This record gives sequence, structure tokens and C-alpha cells, in this order.
Amino acid sequence: MTLAEAVVSGAEPAELASLPVPSTYRAAHLRKDEVGSFADKDVRRSIHVGQVPMPELAPDEVLVAVMASAINYNTVWSAMFEPIPTFAFLKRLGPRHDLPTHVLGSDAAGVVVRTGAAVRRWQVGDRVVAAPAYIDGEDPIAQHDGMLAADLRAWGFETNFGGLADFAVVKATQLLPKPRHLTWEEAACNLLCAATAYRMLVGERGARMRQGDVVLLWGATGGLGAYGVQLVRNGGGIPVGVVSSEEKAELLRRMGCEHVIDRTQYEDLKGEKDWRRLGSEIRRLVGEDAAIVFEHTGRETFGASVYVAKRGGAVVTCGSSSGYAHEYDNRHLWMRLKRIIGSHGANYQECHEVNRLISLGMIHPTLSAVFPLAQAGAAARAVQLNEHVGKVGVLALAPAPDLGVEDRALRARIGEERLRLFRP
Ligand SMILES: NC(=O)c1ccc[n+]([C@@H]2O[C@H](COP(=O)([O-])OP(=O)(O)OC[C@H]3O[C@@H](n4cnc5c(N)ncnc54)[C@H](OP(=O)(O)O)[C@@H]3O)[C@@H](O)[C@H]2O)c1
Repeated sequence: MTLAEAVVSGAEPAELASLPVPSTYRAAHLRKDEVGSFADKDVRRSIHVGQVPMPELAPDEVLVAVMASAINYNTVWSAMFEPIPTFAFLKRLGPRHDLPTHVLGSDAAGVVVRTGAAVRRWQVGDRVVAAPAYIDGEDPIAQHDGMLAADLRAWGFETNFGGLADFAVVKATQLLPKPRHLTWEEAACNLLCAATAYRMLVGERGARMRQGDVVLLWGATGGLGAYGVQLVRNGGGIPVGVVSSEEKAELLRRMGCEHVIDRTQYEDLKGEKDWRRLGSEIRRLVGEDAAIVFEHTGRETFGASVYVAKRGGAVVTCGSSSGYAHEYDNRHLWMRLKRIIGSHGANYQECHEVNRLISLGMIHPTLSAVFPLAQAGAAARAVQLNEHVGKVGVLALAPAPDLGVEDRALRARIGEERLRLFRP
């Protein structure tokens, strides 16, 4: 029996530890010799699925047999070789990561199959999810906030050996216990987006949302936005979700977000006329301006976000899907004492806090579709074209969907309807 087969059959830790680690493994990867090759930027062409060499494990690392993973927007950036080819990150990280192939993926759920000599918290056989922040614990500031550490990287984006594969290499400090009531693919889809949204909204360096705060969320049924909406509701805030279709508006309402704005009703959100219309619409819906604007959409929306934030309010941003160079009217910022807060990922403690909320059944997966690893390119293409809602999952070693649930009682208490709200 191979190590992968033993994991799938639920073998005991002693058996997993006794089976040899394969010298190669199946992974969704980019090829260095193809950088810049695809003028149409179709990620199905740049993402390959095939065998890559198994790396050595460093003392602080863990080898995880991946049952399921998920597509993130960084998978799309990587596979478009934009804004810069990720091989440049791997080169900076050193020879072990700087290979002809880059294995992608910043989310995973699976089983620990090897631990490095310095690992204390995790053992072979543990069922885990992986957080995306790859933090250099030797930088003193990491003890204060890992996201401020100088050599911070996003795993599977700025490092090699990511989660879209049958095996993944992570630092031990990325691992958290898998929520026991979720399937492998439900468990695998959350952490990157949920933890990023958590830090943006409630983290000490985020917008520090308070009960009753009105929060405007762009892309409210997307990867980040759908966790943002849940976190706002869970924390006693009032979400106002922006989406681009009636189907998405309906999904938002089913999530309990009663205030919905359809951005297709606006002609040019970069212009002041539409900023004013948007501001009026928010006031009409909730009777006041937004204390927090949840931004990741960038150039197309940022001017509006600054405008509609309330006096003393905050725009918290972690991305720029529609373009990095933002324009806004600074008078609206300084005269009304607003703040712009940059946010990125989440530190280990914030990942732990959001994983706890998921494990308690207070925040739910937003999985809408599941692809086999062999079709990782098609899965990423759906996200590239904004054809998806929530998260798109990928099955690696898990032989079928819906496996891996341990706590059926909690699952029954939450109900399948809520856990599968994003499924067609
Ligand atoms: N720094 C970090 O740690 C971090 C972490 C996660 C993500 N990000 C970044 O955040 C961005 C979003 O990630 P995601 O996972 O949420 O992606 P996603 O699943 O594709 O969702 C993005 C949503 O944005 C909306 N949108 C797209 N283009 C828009 C536009 N021009 N104007 C307004 N809304 C638009 C879409 O919703 P509608 O069409 O319904 O409006 C879409 O559902 C990406 O750029 C990603 O790289 C950063």
C-alpha cells in the first residue's frame, strides 16, 4: 500500500509513519519555461497537473497528505504571471523553492504524514487545515504580529509546495485542527479568505468593527466578501452587500444580508456622480453612512469607497482586483477624518480565532463547486472569469466529495441547508 492509499483508507498513525514518502507527487503547477507564453492569459493553459519532485522537509516543517484544497484569487494571479511571475518570489526564497515548477495553492485540508525534527504541536495522523501565512518566526516583530515580519510570504503563492496537490509542505505554524463537522472540501476552502476578512474587520490592525456598525462590502458573495458578510452579522454589525446580479442578490438575502446593492445599476463608479448615488442608496437602505468599507476591488471602486465611508469611518483594503493605481478625492478623506487601512492575510492567532468560529459553527464554508485536481485549471478559470460565488474547491486525495465528517451531531444542529447554502 502506498502512503497516499493508506491516508485515504484511514490508516493508523503508526502505519502512516512506516510507509515511505514517494519521490514524486501529483500537483497543479506552473512551468518556469512558460512565463509570458500565453497572450490570452487563460489560466487553463498555464496550470498543469502532473508529477513533481518531493522536497526535503526542513526541521520546522510538516508534510501533509492533502485531501482537498481550494482556488484563491492568488492562484489566478500566479497563473496569469501577473503582476509579476511568482518564480521571482521563489528565487528570492532560495534554491529549495526555486525550481522549474511552482506548485500552487494557499488552502488545504488533510492528514499529517511527516513532521520535521523541531515540530512539537503536530503528530502523524492529525487532521488539519493549513493557514496561508508563511511567517519567519526569527524576526522579533513576529512575536508581536506575524504579518509584520520582514520575510512574510503567502504559502503556495510566494513559496513552492502549495496545497493544490496530493502532498503539501507547510511550516508547523500554519496548521490548525480541521473543523470536525465539515467535509474535507468544506474544511479546505475557508482559511485564506475567512482569516483575511477577519483581520480586516475585527483584527487589532484592521477596522475593529463594533456592534451596530454599518459595513459596506464589495463583492459580497465572492471569496472574501461572503466571509465578510458572515463576520459582520456574527459580530452584531449591519452588512450592506454589493453584487452584480439578481442571483447573487438573492443568495445574499438567504445569508441574512437584507441590504443589497446591484453595482450594474451604476454607470461609472469612478465618477463623483455615482459616488453620490451610492452614498444616497446606502442612506436610503440603512439610514446612515458606512462606518467601514470592505475593499479589495481596487481602482474601479476605491474612489466611491472613500466617498461613502462615514465621517471618522474607515476603508479597509487588502487587494485591487480591478487595478492597483487608485484615484480618490482626498478632500473627502481629510475633511471628514476618514482612514484608509491596509491589511494583508492574517497572523496565526487571527487564523486560530476564525478557525474556532468555523469549528463552533458560527461561520460557515461558502463552497459553491468542487473540481477534481486534474481539472485545477478549469477551477481557476471559473474564478478568473468571475463565474463563481463563494469558494471553488478542489479534491486532491479525497476519492469523492462529502467525506471526512467526524462530528455529525454538530453538523445536524447547524443543518445541511446552511452548510450548503452556496451550492447550486
Ligand atoms: N491581501 C490578502 O491577504 C488577500 C487575501 C484574499 C484576497 N485578496 C485579494 O482580494 C481580491 C478578491 O479576492 P476574492 O477571493 O474575494 O475574489 P473573488 O472570489 O473573485 O471575489 C471578488 C468579487 O469582487 C467582485 N468584483 C469583481 N470585479 C469587480 C469590480 N470591477 N467592481 C466591483 N466588484 C467587483 C465580484 O462580485 P460581483 O461581480 O458580484 O460584484 C467578485 O465576486 C483579489 O484581488 C485577491 O487577490 C487579498
